[in-house]
Amino acid sequence: MSTYSSLSSWQEQLRFEYPGVNFQATDHPEGVNAVCEGVLVNPGWRDHPAAPRRGTALCAFGDLVDGEGREFTFGAPDLPLRIVVVRRGDRAWAYVNCCPHNYVPLNDQPDRFVTFDHEWLICSIHGAIFRYEDGYCEDGPCRGRSLEAVDLYNDGGQLSIG
Ligand code: FES
Repeated sequence: MSTYSSLSSWQEQLRFEYPGVNFQATDHPEGVNAVCEGVLVNPGWRDHPAAPRRGTALCAFGDLVDGEGREFTFGAPDLPLRIVVVRRGDRAWAYVNCCPHNYVPLNDQPDRFVTFDHEWLICSIHGAIFRYEDGYCEDGPCRGRSLEAVDLYNDGGQLSIG
């Protein structure tokens, strides 16, 4: 349950907890992202014009850094579909890189998706935190909502779109 009485105090608390994370009070530098617009317009990521087909190879599982996130981008630059894959131990999960608060990408730097303790995915804009295992927002302005999950499968160490 959130203990923050306002967005600003909540941001201040997060700055204290995660001193290296640059929380931004203003809009994301990229503005409202086309990925998110696509997801909003369509019922789900599979209907996005840039959606990868089932079986599309992403990377070797062993290439993912344990505890970290990595972004994969599909489609043209003006309407990309961004997917973030996070790994913990021998498991990995994928989500559309789109915060359900303001529908912008979670990261403000390449592949920077998680808190320093590697416990949560985190949005760089207002600091919403999400569980690795199901994308549920545990705290932040979109608490109770979830990242949109993308199916993955691991076939002999090769990670692909499910
Ligand atoms: S845009 Fe506000 S928490 Fe992500």
